[in-house]
Amino acid sequence: MQRGLDRPGESHVLEAYEAAGGYRAIRKALGMSPEAIIEEVKKSGLRGRGGAGFPTGTKWSFIPRDSDKPRYLLCNSDESEPGTFKDRWLLENDPHLVLEGMMVAAVAIGSHLMFNYFRGEFTYPLARWRAAVEEAYRKGYLGKGIFGSDYDLELVTHYGAGAYIAGEETGMLESLEGKKAFPRNKPPFPAVEGLFRSPTLINNTETLATVPWIVENGADSYVQYGTEKSRGTKLWSCSGPIGRPGVYELEMGYDLMEFLEGDLGGMMEGVELKGIIPGGSSVPVLTPEECRGAKLDYEGLRERGSLVGSGGFIVIGDNMSAVDCLLNLAHFYAHESCGQCTPCREGCGWIEQLVQKILDGRGTQADLETILRVSDLMAGKTICALADAMAWPAVAFIKKYPQEFAALCAEPVDMNELTAAVGRHDHILPRAS
Ligand SMILES: Cc1cc2nc3c(=O)[nH]c(=O)nc-3n(C[C@H](O)[C@H](O)[C@H](O)COP(=O)(O)O)c2cc1C
Ligand code: SF4
Repeated sequence: MQRGLDRPGESHVLEAYEAAGGYRAIRKALGMSPEAIIEEVKKSGLRGRGGAGFPTGTKWSFIPRDSDKPRYLLCNSDESEPGTFKDRWLLENDPHLVLEGMMVAAVAIGSHLMFNYFRGEFTYPLARWRAAVEEAYRKGYLGKGIFGSDYDLELVTHYGAGAYIAGEETGMLESLEGKKAFPRNKPPFPAVEGLFRSPTLINNTETLATVPWIVENGADSYVQYGTEKSRGTKLWSCSGPIGRPGVYELEMGYDLMEFLEGDLGGMMEGVELKGIIPGGSSVPVLTPEECRGAKLDYEGLRERGSLVGSGGFIVIGDNMSAVDCLLNLAHFYAHESCGQCTPCREGCGWIEQLVQKILDGRGTQADLETILRVSDLMAGKTICALADAMAWPAVAFIKKYPQEFAALCAEPVDMNELTAAVGRHDHILPRAS
């Protein structure tokens, strides 16, 4: 899907992008009907790469065409999920690909004003992006009558203040409107009532960057990659004690262990695999046994009790404590909760305090059971999914590494009772549908 990579160091420049076939898809799209573009994206089976995996073409078709309000396109470049850095890679190395994807999406929904919302800390990607947008305006690819057509298309780049919650789509709308990024209750969904109460299409950066290839080569070509339900390719940002960390593009359905032991160069010398969080910090961790035979696609990971999420592939070595890992996550979510919903505001902080207590050697069996109970009271009961993003890892870490938690407690833990407590609450974890 990337372009211009045959000119290392220049892939972000318009000339290199065009020399590699860039901006052909938007020229083609301008000659197609909006319905035909949407149909092509629907047929491709592309699913949103921002976390939820919602079918992209279907989402585009929800934008009403009969509304007298303006329609907006919003690219979600907030990427703040721990362990996730694939959108940053795209914005730094292939900004024109993201821009072209945005243009195609805008034309498909009849939008004449697009926004790209950047994470506040993304200064380098932002500089690359701004340079690319300037190039596009100078060439007449943005502005009045793009590419010599009669279609006007403007773009606003906005950068946030570094809040994870601004990545949640309705929090992002609030932030763009100049308010705190407090997520909205849904419905109405942004497609119907989004930015300034107008229909708004929100897609992740990678989702949009995938669109030019589909429109240029056709959905029939795209569906040749991946599996029946998880089509195409996906970016994975890989970190941890591995030989070759970085961003990788894989065909959906790739074998997880083949990826780890082959492409990623395996574990660093002297470190054994303890677990993998395959889709960014919000999804449940997998043990080495669960990793074996797992496929990297929506159904494959769900079948193992985890999710594709944001594609942040975090490898955990046996030199790291599972309790420490959970504390790290709990600290993040407690800090990032916007505080609107009681279960999330209180629950994230509570879990953080209890895990800290256990790590300090002061914890008890009752504390472990409280973490499980509180997680259960959080998942699926709040305005947005940040609460689930805390609850799933908490239950998964205790379920999969109970001995490590028990070993740090001040008093002996009855493992049978702890297993029973896990059994009462692990229904919140993702399962094969
Ligand atoms: C707490 C929270 C943070 C999120 N952060 C991001 C983010 O940084 N980038 C992103 O694309 N989606 C993020 N999402 C998901 C968005 O709400 C939304 O589903 C996504 O942008 C839709 O794009 P897609 O259909 O292309 O996946 C987040 C969701 C939640 C609940
Ligand atoms: S779940 Fe948490 S982050 Fe989301 S709206 Fe409620 S309090 Fe805010």
